[in-house]
Amino acid sequence: MFNVLQGNVFETDQECVIVGLFDRPEKFAGKLTSLDELFAGELSELVKSGDISAKRKEVSLIHGLGKSKVKRLLFVGLGKEKELNYSELKLVLGTVSKKLTSMRIESFAVMLDSFICERIPSDDIAHAFAEAYTLATYEFANYKQKSNEPEVKIKEINVYTEEESSEIELALQTGYTYGNATNSARTLVNLPGNMLTPTELATYAKDLATKYELEVEILDRSEIEKLGMGAFLAVNKGSVEPPYMIVLKYQGKKEWNDVIGLVGKGITFDTGGYSLKPKDGIVGMKTDMGGAAAVLGAMEIIGATKPEQNVVAVIPTTDNMVSGDAFKPDDVITSMSGKTIEVLNTDAEGRLVLADAMTYAKHHGANYLVDIATLTGGVIVALGLDKTGALTNNEYLFEQILEASHEADEFIWRLPYTEKDKQRVRNSKMADLNNSPGREGHAIMGGAFVGEFAEDTPWVHLDIAGTATTKSAHELGPDGATGVMVRTLAIFIDNFNPNRE
Ligand code: BES
Ligand code: MN
Ligand code: ZN
Repeated sequence: MFNVLQGNVFETDQECVIVGLFDRPEKFAGKLTSLDELFAGELSELVKSGDISAKRKEVSLIHGLGKSKVKRLLFVGLGKEKELNYSELKLVLGTVSKKLTSMRIESFAVMLDSFICERIPSDDIAHAFAEAYTLATYEFANYKQKSNEPEVKIKEINVYTEEESSEIELALQTGYTYGNATNSARTLVNLPGNMLTPTELATYAKDLATKYELEVEILDRSEIEKLGMGAFLAVNKGSVEPPYMIVLKYQGKKEWNDVIGLVGKGITFDTGGYSLKPKDGIVGMKTDMGGAAAVLGAMEIIGATKPEQNVVAVIPTTDNMVSGDAFKPDDVITSMSGKTIEVLNTDAEGRLVLADAMTYAKHHGANYLVDIATLTGGVIVALGLDKTGALTNNEYLFEQILEASHEADEFIWRLPYTEKDKQRVRNSKMADLNNSPGREGHAIMGGAFVGEFAEDTPWVHLDIAGTATTKSAHELGPDGATGVMVRTLAIFIDNFNPNRE
């Protein structure tokens, strides 16, 4: 999709060229002088009059009108050079990319060097451009008879630069991989529950494994029974859809050691079960496999970029339904770990499926565990819709996740996790644990329950109930699924250092 080219882009017959414009006294200095000369100084005039804006994120479309071979120039304001950082640059690039989708063109060019500034190296600009473009132009193809799929699609992007082209090519490819894998996760989350059943999710994972040569294991019901995954099975009991435990393995080191386990909640639809959700709360519960999607998205990046790490992904997938067979409040169930659980609320199903998945990740040798789940409405009450809630039993592991989240611009906030919290999930007359200790601090309770199955293994819990979807379109995508944590997890894996203290 990306061609890296050298030379003067303004002497080529591009449909459109994206040009970054810093807010500085000599706007058309340096690399842009030749452009202004082509237009006989008129561009400078347009900047002075404000028709072309250098204000950050403002986009100005200018037609070539025969003065340049280039048909259109799409200027995007970058603001003051000193104030532009990597995160802001991505938002700028997302904004200008969105503008392109309405143009009905099949190709365009970008003058990469117009974005070069003190604080951001050119390969980072290339990565940011490819990632932001891919994310910003994502759209879920809907099912209307007249679908929203564009008639004309951009197939080719010509990136003009004087920088070392092999480095730029690699950065573009990596940026595209990050964006595209995030979009894959978005699509999984946006798919309705009747179209993405546990069977379909398992097939998707199998295909992903084939494409990237990952090891794959899909446990069906009888194997799940044999392994004694009573918590996972209880959630599936009321469903006509068979459950699957999906395992993907990526070995990037000679020995299978320092294994990172990624565990993602894969509830393809959550009715709440007999603790039925109210009618307003049930709509949208097709997104309850957002954790699974984040893990699969991260595995897509890992498969494509092949870091020197060992990763095992474990995804328990089922829906949570009501029927004569369904599990009930007051039921006592036995997890694979041997721990027994008193079910107080069938709508606290995520922690039950995760319990057995955590144990199974350890069986596959996981030495570090990260679970990702749309686990609680409580995290939304506590942190709002734009922050992922975290719990951990290990400072050093959490630090590494947090650093990755900063690089990915995905906000994570750690919640407290104390002895008292642990006592509350262990408080049951009937069993070792209860799955719903009450409303107070229930985002913490959800995480604390999962933590019982991490035991002494270093572990981080990420509750993405608020962040997996968004109600409004933004610079880097439309409303709906966000693909949150795909990039954080991939960066975390890439940089992971087991010896850091
Ligand atoms: N899937 C929900 C959590 C959720 C809520 C995700 C809103 C996305 C948006 C989860 O299974 C759930 O129902 N949690 C309950 C737990 C409670 C019963 C302890 C909740 O948060 O209300
Ligand atoms: Mn639920
Ligand atoms: Zn749920």
